[in-house]
Amino acid sequence: MPQDKLRVGIIGCGGIAQHHHVPSYLRSPGVEIVAACDVSAEAVAALAALTDTIAYTTDDYAALLREAQVDLVSVCTTNDMHYPVVMEAIAQGVDVFCEKPLALTHAQAQEMYAAAQERRIKTGVNFAHRRTPAAQLAREILASGALGQIYHVSAIYAAGAPHYAQRPGTWRNQREKAGFGGLGDMGSHMLDMVLWWLDTGVDAVAANLRTVVPERLQAGTGAPMRVTTEDEGMVLLNYANGALGYLCGSYTFTGRGYDQRAEVYGSEGGLMYDQQHPYQLQVWLPEEALEPYTILERGGSLDRPYTTILVPERLQGRLPGEPQRRRTVLMDFVEAYQRDEPFVFAPGFCEGLRVQEVLEGIARADAARCWISLPL
Ligand SMILES: NC(=O)c1ccc[n+]([C@@H]2O[C@H](COP(=O)([O-])OP(=O)(O)OC[C@H]3O[C@@H](n4cnc5c(N)ncnc54)[C@H](O)[C@@H]3O)[C@@H](O)[C@H]2O)c1
Repeated sequence: MPQDKLRVGIIGCGGIAQHHHVPSYLRSPGVEIVAACDVSAEAVAALAALTDTIAYTTDDYAALLREAQVDLVSVCTTNDMHYPVVMEAIAQGVDVFCEKPLALTHAQAQEMYAAAQERRIKTGVNFAHRRTPAAQLAREILASGALGQIYHVSAIYAAGAPHYAQRPGTWRNQREKAGFGGLGDMGSHMLDMVLWWLDTGVDAVAANLRTVVPERLQAGTGAPMRVTTEDEGMVLLNYANGALGYLCGSYTFTGRGYDQRAEVYGSEGGLMYDQQHPYQLQVWLPEEALEPYTILERGGSLDRPYTTILVPERLQGRLPGEPQRRRTVLMDFVEAYQRDEPFVFAPGFCEGLRVQEVLEGIARADAARCWISLPL
């Protein structure tokens, strides 16, 4: 019997599944979360308590994919499990919305992308910050060409809890589970953002990755554990459009929480994006390019040359009846999925793969202490 609702399963029921995927599905009409899987029974129970539609729970992702008759799965496990879970979903003909980064390695990501293409699986990757309103406006301005030839892009994802060195160790500190630490985890968002904004690729990278706190006490057990991922990384990038770039992804910006900043400068203008001011953008643009936008504070002086503009309502993504909440990339994915049209969605595995390739170039550049050319 044909199902009229999209049947969704969630594999990996931890933080992002509970706080981001479930609320996004619950706000998407025509969707039912029907199955959940986690190796932790506690995590399954916590997620299942968020909705009353989950009839199937398990600790075995292959069983869920075989038995729960789902159309789509969210893959929200630790990074090491993205590859095996996604490959099994593809083998079972189940569509996939996967957390970032797509995989542990470039080779895994290539296989996942190729298999999805071959089986015509619908894919999405949760580069969630594309939905930050100021990021949407930056994309619109850059796509209009108003900045002219792009010279320079710097992008920072500065994350940091208080008392960073004393934080308990988690899977994010283990290379075999996470692949990367601060640079790959946080920086992958900014890499995707810049490639999306500029509609370009990366020609070459040079990188410096660093583990600042080499040993931690493991969360839960308190046992000493060696940290095998980087706490932070700094990268120089030559973009294919000729721009020179700087990228920093880090967990070590003590007390900053989560803070993204990016600046783009071109021959005709520049823009400064700051995630902590999500509804505005600072720009220096020719007057005619400013015309469509509401000006919050006009620049022009030497100490304040940039003009602050408001993100237009059409790009704010506020949810009707819930003005404090915004649309998510996952809600966009579901909407595209439900349209009866040929399926093209970005960010999907194509975008996940291109970020993974740059990450691998970065790891090689750091290990060899030299520039690495891309494609690998
Ligand atoms: N897009 C974003 O902005 C964003 C933000 C946070 C996390 N993430 C990504 O989401 C994923 C999960 O992160 P999190 O913060 O929720 O971590 P988490 O530790 O809270 O949850 C991960 C869950 O995966 C489960 N798991 C591990 N192996 C499993 C297996 N074999 N089968 C089933 N479940 C398994 C764990 O038990 C745990 O409950 C990661 O890939 C992370 O990079 C993305």
